[in-house]
Amino acid sequence: MHTTTEGPVTEANVLEPASGGKTVEVQLEAKPTDWEISPGHVVAGYGFNGQVPGPTIEGEVGDLLVVLLTNRLSQPTTIHWHGLRVPADMDGTEMTQHPVESGQTFEYRFRLPDAGTFWYHPHLHETEQMERGMYGAVVVRGPAEPQLDRERVLIFDDLKLDHRGNIARFGGLMQRAKGRLGNVRLVNGMFMPQFGMSAGQIERWRVLNASSSRYVHLSIGGRPFTILGTDGGLIPKPMTVSDAVLAVADRLDLAVGPFAVGETLAVDSLAYDRGDMVKEEGGRCATVHVGSALPSRAVIPPTLRHIDPLATGDVMPNRTVALGVKMSLRHGVDWTIDGEAHHHGEPVRVGELQVWDVVNDTAMDHPFHLHGFFFQVLDVNGRPPVTISWEDTINVPKKGRVRIAWLPDDRPGSWMYHCHILEHAAAGMMAHFEVVR
Ligand code: C2O
Ligand code: CU
Repeated sequence: MHTTTEGPVTEANVLEPASGGKTVEVQLEAKPTDWEISPGHVVAGYGFNGQVPGPTIEGEVGDLLVVLLTNRLSQPTTIHWHGLRVPADMDGTEMTQHPVESGQTFEYRFRLPDAGTFWYHPHLHETEQMERGMYGAVVVRGPAEPQLDRERVLIFDDLKLDHRGNIARFGGLMQRAKGRLGNVRLVNGMFMPQFGMSAGQIERWRVLNASSSRYVHLSIGGRPFTILGTDGGLIPKPMTVSDAVLAVADRLDLAVGPFAVGETLAVDSLAYDRGDMVKEEGGRCATVHVGSALPSRAVIPPTLRHIDPLATGDVMPNRTVALGVKMSLRHGVDWTIDGEAHHHGEPVRVGELQVWDVVNDTAMDHPFHLHGFFFQVLDVNGRPPVTISWEDTINVPKKGRVRIAWLPDDRPGSWMYHCHILEHAAAGMMAHFEVVR
């Protein structure tokens, strides 16, 4: 059962939908937004269409997505399509387009090549624009999705408020060093939301971590739940766990339930140790109340998808990506890749297998993100992962190493990889490179 177009995405593909596909048109207006994080508590957000999160964009594999972005902020912005295999000039970075200035519009236009849970966010002034709420989900469905009783998108975030309850000042040495850790946890833009679920049913939760720097160590009332998919769509076989870590920018597709009438489940983030300087405490994110029963028609097949391995564990790496840090007189610290802030990496050639060792020389975890292409994790600190999967973001443990493999399909242009802790990317843990023919 394939839910991915495994073939290349060519530039001709962006002009119209695949045969049988449709065109999905979306207008996104970036503008200052009164963001009500809990009843009566409004903060000065930036939303898409006046809401946080922005609208969920939904489509099917093969559809053409056309998004008209209008910028009504007083600062420039762009949209990056995180995880979507778009053509380079649609990637929304400062390498591939001019910033969309205040009052201007820009049209993004590309085919949806893969099923999965993706997201969109600015790629300019991210530390402020994303903290103020500029993010939303992109849900792409394939021809063979597991049938569950109901589906939800849950976007985790946190927000740093000052003592008056306003969004705290941006910047400073601590935020640059640790990333901006909030003091209020949010799900779907709300502080401690409560929601209902029908007893006896199994739901699909598409979970995404949109925080600036906080990891989500998810627990659902301490009960088992089942992982169906990761960043790049379904995994081969469902995997039942009792908790799961979402590094910044990570996604998981879960099957949750069934529960019994009258149960209350705490959706928590458990403690997580990101390293020397950042031991994140646990806390409540949301609460689920289980109401009266409804019949279930959920079927989770034992096999969800087939994924061919790109490489075996003993293949030699052809690039080392060193995540590092150095002291800076001006800034306290600079975060680096291969020893320099804002590194320019070597080009890669279309069709040539890439095996990269991402080595973390620091005492803190970093979520490594590759734009525009999925990779497979071959090992983490020498140990193969529990399942093969397609990823675009992977946690690189402190003083650890992750070996990944990816195959550049025919989408030449400027791409990047970086730490997704937004303050680290801004402070240099970021590299640009070209994919060439
Ligand atoms: Cu969601 Cu350059 O990242
Ligand atoms: Cu980092």
